[in-house]
Amino acid sequence: MYDFDKKFDRHNTDVIKWDRMEKDFGRADLIPLGIADMDFETLPEIVKALTERAAHPTYGYTFQSDNYYDSFIGWNKRRNGIDIRREEMIAIPGVVCANAFILYALTEPGDKILLTTPVYDPFFKVIEQQKRTMVTSSLIKKEGGRYEFDYEDMEKKMADGVKLFVLCNPHNPVGRVWEKEELLKVNELCKKYNVLVFSDDIHSDIVMKGHKYCPYVSISEDAAMRTVTAMAPSKTFNVAGIKTSVLFAKNPEIFNKVNEAVVNFHLGVNLFGLKALEVAYTHGDKYVDELCEYIGKNAEYVADYIEKNIPKIKTYVPEGTYLMWLDCSAYGLSQEDLMKKVIDAGIAPNDGSHYGKEGVGFIRINVGTQRSMLEEAMEKLKKAFN
Ligand SMILES: Cc1ncc(COP(=O)(O)O)c(C=O)c1O
Repeated sequence: MYDFDKKFDRHNTDVIKWDRMEKDFGRADLIPLGIADMDFETLPEIVKALTERAAHPTYGYTFQSDNYYDSFIGWNKRRNGIDIRREEMIAIPGVVCANAFILYALTEPGDKILLTTPVYDPFFKVIEQQKRTMVTSSLIKKEGGRYEFDYEDMEKKMADGVKLFVLCNPHNPVGRVWEKEELLKVNELCKKYNVLVFSDDIHSDIVMKGHKYCPYVSISEDAAMRTVTAMAPSKTFNVAGIKTSVLFAKNPEIFNKVNEAVVNFHLGVNLFGLKALEVAYTHGDKYVDELCEYIGKNAEYVADYIEKNIPKIKTYVPEGTYLMWLDCSAYGLSQEDLMKKVIDAGIAPNDGSHYGKEGVGFIRINVGTQRSMLEEAMEKLKKAFN
């Protein structure tokens, strides 16, 4: 059993979540529930492998080993039921970086890029920086907080000339793990309007009991041929700082365009990142199973606590990700006052409005932390709102 309750000090490790709090929030004593990395120790095999490698005092140029490829391919076969081939894979430092390269390689300045909002805010930035045109379709919020695609609206937007749709699966911040039937409907539209898909599946390993991650690339031959998928061990194994991710594309024409762009920018690969990825995807099954169970219980605890103690805040257990989406709109506060109230209470959350206009009145919190930390945070939240 892995001990996710174990607390340890993360200060002075140069991590944004803990060491930049004073700069970002004006005080250093908040409980950080913002930045999406976890407060858990990574897989012990990763620590061992990196420590052993670091002990050898040379760090020369490196390459993707057979073990690296086999681990990623094996993980996806075993856990996600998808067959990936080496020649479909591209090493990339990060998933946001992958997003930028895909827009750069597969679309032209001015092209319309569709997002379903609220969504992870760097998606907006990448479109702006690449000088593409952002088109958004609001997710529909159902009873109990379950969000769904608005197919009618998505079709309207696609009919108007969308070049590429950025799918987030599982979806940050609303926590949906999209089901095959839903993805098939999206694929029908993408096929009809010839829309390419970038599937950001960085959260795909963190899925709660009763739900199953369905890779968009797996749902049909057509979907496979119009998709580039990004995955990474960064969220799953708490190794975001090693900046090592993977893109894969089954369509050789799409692969060649993206690969050419990546090759031409000479990004290279990182010795420690490749090793961490290899070890994670070789030895990490039990860790991830137990992690998902722990996070699921954390989310249940938070949802239950809020329902009983701060019932004007509406939330729910996410289907995937370690992120929770808290609807605080019943208080009628401005977004600025809402954030101030939560920060003054001693908690650093994410501002819901950053994820799109649908997020006004919301905050996002990260439950990838020790239960005791969440208990402390919930007491502070209760005091602030009651
Ligand atoms: C949906 C999504 N994509 C990408 C990232 C970040 O990816 P990376 O750190 O690899 O750029 C995050 C981090 O929160 C995320 O939630």
